[in-house]
Amino acid sequence: MAPRRILVLHGPNLNLLGTREPEVYGRLTLNEIDSRLKHRGQELGLDVVCRQSNTEGQLLDWLHEATTEGFAGIIINPAAFTHYSIALRDALAAIPLAAIEVHLSNPAAREEFRRQSVTAPVCLGSISGLGPDSYLVALEAWRLRLDQAADSN
Ligand code: DQA
Repeated sequence: MAPRRILVLHGPNLNLLGTREPEVYGRLTLNEIDSRLKHRGQELGLDVVCRQSNTEGQLLDWLHEATTEGFAGIIINPAAFTHYSIALRDALAAIPLAAIEVHLSNPAAREEFRRQSVTAPVCLGSISGLGPDSYLVALEAWRLRLDQAADSN
């Protein structure tokens, strides 16, 4: 079976990981997180493609194109867009592919304005607060779901 492709999207300011508020987000850089994901993906039979943008429109375009690009699932950390981007929410609702939302920190335990996610209700599920492991848990979840889907065919 050809490796199934998973698209990982990182939203604004996540390119600064490593130096950005390390007491909140840890010391791993985005490149290090992406390398871990790709490595674990290989072990799980998943081809992991990681992209980051500080621009809402770019994230929307990647979501719109994800199905024709042949992805089987999406993992997204919408970062600050989580809390107010109706455009991102609408894109997630519009596309046929499902997404798992992830956060490094636990927004529910932080400032009031982070407690609302406008994107989570249109995602398959959400994983927060585990640092970079939030992404790895989401990847494991995709493996389970895709295996289950293959078994039921
Ligand atoms: C974040 C949480 C958001 O509230 C914040 O705006 C981010 C990162 C996280 O991964 O913990 O940029 O999505």
